[in-house]
Amino acid sequence: MTEPSTKKQKPDPCSFVIFGATGDLTHRLVIPALYNLAAGDLLPEKFCVVGIARKGMSSDEMRDSLMKGLKQYKTRPIDDAVAKRLLECVTCIEADPKDPGSFDGMRERLEKLESNRATGGNRLFYLATPPVAFAPIAKQLGRAGMLKEDGAWRRLVVEKPFGTDLASAKMLNGELLKIMDEHQIYRIDHYLGKETVQNILVLRFANGMFEPIWNRDHIDHVQITVDEKIGVGHRGNFYDSTGALRDMVPNHLFQLLSLVAMEPPAKFNAQAVRSEKAEVLAAIQTQNEAEALKNSVRGQYQAGKSGDAEIGDYRKTEEVKPDSTTETYAALKLTIDNWRWAGVPFYLRTGKALGIKRTEVAIKFKQAPFAMFRDTPVDRLSQNYLVIAIEPTEGITLQFNTKVPGPVINIDGVEMKFRYKDYFQAEPTTGYETLIYDCMIGDNILFQRADSVEAGWQAVQPFLDAWKKAGSKGLEPYKAGSEGPDAANELLKRDGRIWRKLG
Ligand code: BG6
Repeated sequence: MTEPSTKKQKPDPCSFVIFGATGDLTHRLVIPALYNLAAGDLLPEKFCVVGIARKGMSSDEMRDSLMKGLKQYKTRPIDDAVAKRLLECVTCIEADPKDPGSFDGMRERLEKLESNRATGGNRLFYLATPPVAFAPIAKQLGRAGMLKEDGAWRRLVVEKPFGTDLASAKMLNGELLKIMDEHQIYRIDHYLGKETVQNILVLRFANGMFEPIWNRDHIDHVQITVDEKIGVGHRGNFYDSTGALRDMVPNHLFQLLSLVAMEPPAKFNAQAVRSEKAEVLAAIQTQNEAEALKNSVRGQYQAGKSGDAEIGDYRKTEEVKPDSTTETYAALKLTIDNWRWAGVPFYLRTGKALGIKRTEVAIKFKQAPFAMFRDTPVDRLSQNYLVIAIEPTEGITLQFNTKVPGPVINIDGVEMKFRYKDYFQAEPTTGYETLIYDCMIGDNILFQRADSVEAGWQAVQPFLDAWKKAGSKGLEPYKAGSEGPDAANELLKRDGRIWRKLG
């Protein structure tokens, strides 16, 4: 059993300014992650947290509310002294982008606080707000001079969703880049906070045996699956205007795809890694309307049972239109038009209210020639998969063929399994610790650059357009608790392939 090594560098002194400090994300993830960093002695020596609230709230009220959140969402037992020290440095300041003057007031208070706390003027602005607020807040921060790097660093953290299509993502990038430089923007995709996702790079590039076979000569196809058991729950309003494709594919599934498909970067640094990721996303072949319809499946769940949970019809969810054509399941076939991957399909699937929660990348290798076994009792060879399991199991499995012991030649598929928990003992985390820590030390390797966000939207735009035009035509119903619509199986069957069985 190995203890994971912890990054020891302490971040520079700074203020951590949270917009949306009264919201769910701050309580559920940001503060518990800051607590875990504090417990690991990974917060700056000189540090303050500023919670921005629109309606009048005192610092004491904000601390109480954050403490309640921390107790509810903690990932490990709370050490009262550590929690108290963290929350003592929380100050509530009022600011509303609709009232530009409030940002001038905020700047004055922030500067005073920074001089008391000796944070040196370094600031991290964390936008834990609905996306419509991203540009207005950034604009006011810029206007009030709070983003100018005059001897101190100034960074802006933006949560997903970054745009709702290619045009809006470009517009948002344009607006932010008018106010600040790309190096100041940290676009979060929480999938990059997952150890197993970060490990894809290490698996591919820290081991000599994979790279020579990681290409169209040896790989038949790749399957990327993010299946969820939960339905839409109370997020009907957000989800009905978003859908499975926008919610999951250009961000989370494309993070997995780009790590699996990118070329080896020359160096392990943000510039090199992010450039290769952007390149491979830009190489996803753009499909015309007919191709997009042929190479995609969308579904919507109907009432059913997933595990023990009864899930009602999607269309009967609170704040969902009764005739909604929003997809809760999406499957796509994509191809990457470069020398490594030409002709290798990437099949992606994701959905809500399915029978199993599973996130994995399965690399299917080409079949060995069968001829040698033709005159033996062997009638088939099992598939050779390398499976990168992200959740809930964290590990890597290699499936290969082996001889069944006995006098008669017989062959069966077996598995070699690696599970993280068998080797490493890691403290449970929120998944945000590394991301927040990296923002504070200025390492943006795990954050999305403007070009890769736009390349992601570019690749899904034909599907968004084709589905919008098709309306309810082609929207496949599936039962909650099932594997999704049958049409998703057809998508692979017509290529002579099948989805890997989950669970
Ligand atoms: C979020 C989506 O970004 O990711 C949710 O908005 C989804 O709809 C979630 O449930 C999935 O994240 P994870 O880490 O549970 O796979």
